[in-house]
Amino acid sequence: MADCSEGPRNPTEVRMSQMVLPYHANHCGQLSSGQLLKWIDTAACLSAERHAGCSCVTASMDDIYFEHTISVGQVVNLKAKVNRAFNSSMEVGIQVTSEDLYTGNEWKVCHAYATFVAQAQGSGKVKLSPLTPLTEDEELEHSIAAERRRMRLVHTDTIKELLTKSTVQDERRHEDGENGEVLAEKTRVESVELVLPPHANHQGNTFGGQIMAWMENVATIAASRLCHTHPTLKTIEMFHFRGPSQVGDRLILKAIVNNSFKDSMEVGVCVEAFCHEVGVLRRHVNSAFMTFMVLDENNHPCVLPQIKPGPGDGERRYREANARRKIRLDRKYVISCKQSEVPLSVPWNPTNQVYLSYNNVSALKMLVSKANWALASEINKVRLSTIEEDNFLSFKVEMTVSIEARQAFLLLSDLSQRHKWDKHYHTCELVQQVDEDDAIYHVISTLRGAEKRQQDFIILASRRQPCDIGDPFVVAFRSVSLPTHPAHPDYARGETLCAGYCIWSEEGHRAKVSYYNQFTPGFVSYITTNIAGLSSDFYTTFQACEQFLNENKKDLAADIKPLRLQDTAEGSV
Ligand code: COA
Ligand code: ADP
Repeated sequence: MADCSEGPRNPTEVRMSQMVLPYHANHCGQLSSGQLLKWIDTAACLSAERHAGCSCVTASMDDIYFEHTISVGQVVNLKAKVNRAFNSSMEVGIQVTSEDLYTGNEWKVCHAYATFVAQAQGSGKVKLSPLTPLTEDEELEHSIAAERRRMRLVHTDTIKELLTKSTVQDERRHEDGENGEVLAEKTRVESVELVLPPHANHQGNTFGGQIMAWMENVATIAASRLCHTHPTLKTIEMFHFRGPSQVGDRLILKAIVNNSFKDSMEVGVCVEAFCHEVGVLRRHVNSAFMTFMVLDENNHPCVLPQIKPGPGDGERRYREANARRKIRLDRKYVISCKQSEVPLSVPWNPTNQVYLSYNNVSALKMLVSKANWALASEINKVRLSTIEEDNFLSFKVEMTVSIEARQAFLLLSDLSQRHKWDKHYHTCELVQQVDEDDAIYHVISTLRGAEKRQQDFIILASRRQPCDIGDPFVVAFRSVSLPTHPAHPDYARGETLCAGYCIWSEEGHRAKVSYYNQFTPGFVSYITTNIAGLSSDFYTTFQACEQFLNENKKDLAADIKPLRLQDTAEGSV
């Protein structure tokens, strides 16, 4: 049933319900994805404008995975709210469900994240007021929004870099021979749209949703030319509106099938704007990559014809579509799996690095945001708390130390120093400095597993500086697997699902340091003994940590080169 509860509401929340009528649908009686994108963009824009108090434009839309199609007669329910305001931009989260009015059933259709930028009246930039999360869920979205923003801003460069490095094999299926292939050229579409006042806001800026709807239209035509039946849009890859478009613009939309896989195809669409004045150059508005499938009456995917790319750009796009598919699968796997469903050690490779790093930090932020931590033990203000949820037992140890938060962050994010205070760390070798904020370590622990062998771990450490005042410094750890470091017979390979530090600045040059660990079998005895009060090991370990921080803070400036500040909202922390 639709959610009709009337509790306290986030002031930016916007709800929209739309009955799907025949003119919203394609010839198969299903809601056109373009119309859905328009509703998503409208609901999100109204939510952003509620917070900003001025007109806003769509800057980007993250990947969308459509889980269900929607039929004529059903109702689409959209719920949009601002998760976080940065400087002039905001992240808006939009949930879409469809509802059958006769049975009362409701299905999740998709979840989208859009970024809107507030438009200043004159020149210059708007500075948005911060948004205060009201519930535990909002707190979590607020915290992870900073991670998603980080990923968005590097998205284009990440994809470019991955495409240049990609070694994905040509996955063309040859069983049908050349004759089974369709020339990509046969799927090419070019279309023009004139931007009129109903397509734009009161300031004359074209709605992002309208452009997305036009893009989906040409992409569907290109896809249909390959499969000669009705294709279903499954995913849209993250994209960015590079520049504005206005009433009066002519938009040229071009689409072509870049590649077809066994049961899916990638269609690329490119949009350029020009106005009627002669001599004015075309502007690139955006490009998007959409994945279509053909579903039979039982909703099973059908096998698609192979594509034969044209020479030059065609061949390049064909190869890049292969690489994007791999990236998409990696990303979907790492990001969309529930924490409890992701196998402990995800293989690390350069194509999934950005997403694993995101997953690492957001998993820790999820643990931090839980409301029902229960204090299990406290010795001299070192507090051990636990939480049991979703079949996981987690613990956190908290203490306040006389050191600047940033210094504690620099010392604790360097895992190779941990053996100096944690007697459970025997050795820790830096295997790979992936980038400025991510490193992979090989840790040999003094703890022994069931077979009485020492345990070893391959750990991805991802660190983040605060995005805004009040945010903590974060250092997240999770296990990964590396082909260069397979399990060794001398050690029992241990695994860490989610662990790390959050460090908050406190008054008087002090910091609150919290260490979190989502318990894995290797730790069971250690932690339950501490929780049951049978051991004060946690206290002696974290007392040693405090001593280590105090002893090393003086040398820090000389030892560790300053970090580049994360793209912060305030520019400094
Ligand atoms: N995804 C999300 N946000 C992005 C982004 C992206 N790919 N690129 C830039 N931004 C954000 C920046 O982080 C910044 O946010 P902040 O102020 O909160 O820190 C904000 O956009 C402005 O960035 P700035 O660097 O000053 O400007 P820019 O030159 O990169 O322009 C836009 C960004 C979005 C304003 C500009 O590209 C634009 O006008 N696009 C068209 C928007 C539009 O009209 N959409 C409707 C359909 S055409
Ligand atoms: P790229 O060529 O690197 O993929 P573009 O932004 O130029 O990036 O184009 C995005 C997508 O739009 C292309 O992958 C292609 O699918 C489609 N496209 C671009 N130009 C054309 C064109 N002239 N005709 C048909 N489709 C096009």
